[in-house]
Amino acid sequence: MDMMKTLADPAFRNDILACFEEPRHAIPARWLYDRAGSELFEQITELPEYYPTRTETALLKRYCGEVAQLGERGRAVVEFGSGSSTKTPHLLRALDTAAYVPIDISGDFLAHSSRELQKQFPDLPIHPLEADFMHRLDLPEQVADMPKLGFFPGSTIGNMIARTSVDLLRSMRETLGVGSQLLIGFDRIKDEEIVVAAYDDSAGVTAQFSLNLLHRINSEMDGTIPVEAFRHIAIWNDLYARIEIYLEAQSDVSFTIEDKSNAMTKGQRLHIENSHKYGLRDARLMLRAGGWSPIAEWSDEQDYFTLILAEAHPSKHAP
Ligand code: AVJ
Repeated sequence: MDMMKTLADPAFRNDILACFEEPRHAIPARWLYDRAGSELFEQITELPEYYPTRTETALLKRYCGEVAQLGERGRAVVEFGSGSSTKTPHLLRALDTAAYVPIDISGDFLAHSSRELQKQFPDLPIHPLEADFMHRLDLPEQVADMPKLGFFPGSTIGNMIARTSVDLLRSMRETLGVGSQLLIGFDRIKDEEIVVAAYDDSAGVTAQFSLNLLHRINSEMDGTIPVEAFRHIAIWNDLYARIEIYLEAQSDVSFTIEDKSNAMTKGQRLHIENSHKYGLRDARLMLRAGGWSPIAEWSDEQDYFTLILAEAHPSKHAP
């Protein structure tokens, strides 16, 4: 093995090795976001078929003034899974933000986007945090005493099954504290063809984004997966109200990962992502289950996407 190669994240290695031990091969979606994956995702957000980003950005632009009026001025904005931070400027400006804490799992992407944002906001204290936001986090001490607004856009919550979403909302409540607010985006249930097209675009960018995971395994874990033998597929699961994304072997294949032999038969799949869609009441219930009380919500004319503002009230005993 190349001695200069940076070591793969141990959690990534564990998840990949574990995937091939199980009869149903599944890999957590967060591993799609290495540097190349994060860049491909940015391209996805500009595709004509991919409605969520442009719909949510328009909502933010239009309603960030209302968000500002519903909370105190001079808060710290804490963004979970900040990526390129492209939606954030509207919010930062409208809120008269005291500090910004972007949290992302992709360290070099985070550093790059923080530098870009700092150019736009030279006086704003920015404290990037490279972390997996699925657990309670210690925020930088500079923002410890500031009132906080959590920002979780993009319907990133859609990647998680309900139980995990609720766990995450609860840890966000602990991270941000009682009295904080959370502004969160939910992708709504809509016609199946529209949703499927958003995850299987005609230019094939989403397919590239999925297949990049195999390239990542090959490069970080010394793998020999024949990437060309796999096809990206996006399927609507109506019972679970979600898009499921798979990589399907188009022929029998065998390969090694860190010297371990693996084989997949033609038609066998790797489950690499879920993207859940929500009714309004689903979204509100999910928030309450995680300890957040919805206080306002905004949707586009077509009800494609909804932003909900919620507050972490002190725990009370149910009547
Ligand atoms: C970043 C999770 C919101 O589910 O729409 C887009 C990821 N995957 N196309 C989504 C994604 C393929 C995206 N999220």
